[in-house]
Amino acid sequence: MTNYIADNNRYDQIPYKRCGRSGIKLPMISLGLWHNFGGVDTYENGRKILRHAFDKGITHFDLANNYGPPPGSAEDNFGKIMKTDFKPYRDEMLISTKAGYHMWDGPYGEWGSKKYLVSSLDQSLKRMGLDYVDIFYHHRPDPDTPVEETMSALDLLVRQGKALYVGISNYNTEETEEAVNILNKLGTPCLINQVKYSMFERWSEESLLDAASDLGIGLIAFSPLAQGLLTDKYLNGIPENSRASKSWGFLQENEVAPALVKIKQLNHIAQVRGQSLAQMAIAWLLKSPALTSVLVGASSVEQLNDNLGALEYLLFSKEEIEEIETILKT
Ligand SMILES: NC(=O)c1ccc[n+]([C@@H]2O[C@H](COP(=O)([O-])OP(=O)(O)OC[C@H]3O[C@@H](n4cnc5c(N)ncnc54)[C@H](OP(=O)(O)O)[C@@H]3O)[C@@H](O)[C@H]2O)c1
Repeated sequence: MTNYIADNNRYDQIPYKRCGRSGIKLPMISLGLWHNFGGVDTYENGRKILRHAFDKGITHFDLANNYGPPPGSAEDNFGKIMKTDFKPYRDEMLISTKAGYHMWDGPYGEWGSKKYLVSSLDQSLKRMGLDYVDIFYHHRPDPDTPVEETMSALDLLVRQGKALYVGISNYNTEETEEAVNILNKLGTPCLINQVKYSMFERWSEESLLDAASDLGIGLIAFSPLAQGLLTDKYLNGIPENSRASKSWGFLQENEVAPALVKIKQLNHIAQVRGQSLAQMAIAWLLKSPALTSVLVGASSVEQLNDNLGALEYLLFSKEEIEEIETILKT
């Protein structure tokens, strides 16, 4: 059992922003459990990070059926922590999960069929020991399943009380507009789109940011630090235990060297601003009014604290913005 009591000052520490035209506000920094919370990771370290996050006012925790490794183990671990530490705080938390990527063998274990989404959320709820999730996402567009079927599965799960809100992830502008329109017709509005967005990944700037504002949905940026590249950790090589060094890490070792020139230049600007590179990369995203929250990952409490420090200095001068643009565009 636990002796965890959440910090009384947790709601004075982080700003919350309305998610599209909904009743929900998200902390401007949310925490994701893709890496560092699975069966291969140290359970007590993940638990420490989660408790610290909640103490700092992070109310939004992002999971998916397949997070681990092994797949499902991040939800299993989160369920344990829910039981021992977070149970009294369930109503203060916004817990999301997703389905879309491969989760089990056979024709019904991935993509966007109603069969897969309904079964997957049932499994996720069991793993986490929850009656419902706050946001259930379709994790990636499915080129072969009619989007009407996928959206009707999301609508069904809300009507069954297994999810309060629904979201989409990795949907481009056109796909987002189509999904949002279908969900509106079904009477279950889309809350949010979760997309990869960082200084190194800017496709959403072309039209998605504006479209999301027009449609009245929120946007949350995943991998805002490009999985750790947009920090000072790879400046002098690939440290042991970093994501790029792990066999199961999604950041490949060979992605580090080609990014180093830009990382060094950006790090210099961050230093002049009196910030870490991670803080500047987060602040740079948060200047977009369309963005509701930045969804960070962290392998330690120190990293999470560093990232939260971004909120202390969000302003950029015109010159800084131009300098950053020049670096990113070369
Ligand atoms: N919808 C989707 O398809 C999708 C896809 C990917 C992710 N996501 C979500 O987005 C969340 C965040 O993604 P992400 O983990 O790739 O985000 P990220 O914030 O870009 O990368 C997190 C990693 O960067 C390093 N890091 C973080 N803060 C640091 C700091 N201050 N100083 C030095 N290094 C730091 C850590 O790497 P080390 O482990 O090396 O220390 C950490 O694990 C995921 O957990 C998940 O919830 C969603």
